[in-house]
Amino acid sequence: MASAITPLPDTRAPAPELAVGDVAARSGVAVSTLHFYESKGLIQAARTGGNQRRYPRAILRRVAFIKVAQRVGIPLAEIAEALQALPEGRTPTATDWRRLSREWRAELDERIRTLTQLRNQLDGCIGCGCLSLKACPLRNAQDALSQEGPGPHFED
Ligand code: FES
Repeated sequence: MASAITPLPDTRAPAPELAVGDVAARSGVAVSTLHFYESKGLIQAARTGGNQRRYPRAILRRVAFIKVAQRVGIPLAEIAEALQALPEGRTPTATDWRRLSREWRAELDERIRTLTQLRNQLDGCIGCGCLSLKACPLRNAQDALSQEGPGPHFED
């Protein structure tokens, strides 16, 4: 009597690719957002013969990286730059993320300093309403006249 032999799965086969709907469902990012990321060069998809997008499984980590970077306020252009700087366009590793998050923390600190300063200046405007070029620190945010030295710089 011949016994049936069940073949073992081929573990050398490449990991299955994901359709855009799979990526959306697993990453929590809308399909339209994924298309937008692609248009900005943040992610790339292969195409099937029927012109449907297919992504490697590593796309999920790449999308997570983009979302977290966006959450801390990093502009998409800067995120794209960081991704493009990685060798062979690879998905950021834990080491990449440690390095980039350290750099971005410094930027975040600077933004917090700037926003704190703006908030403090706004405190002085609440209840004022003058919007004076001379007196209002928000109106004259660059304080260009301070470059001309102290004292009045306006003619009547
Ligand atoms: S509105 Fe008067 S100081 Fe800003």
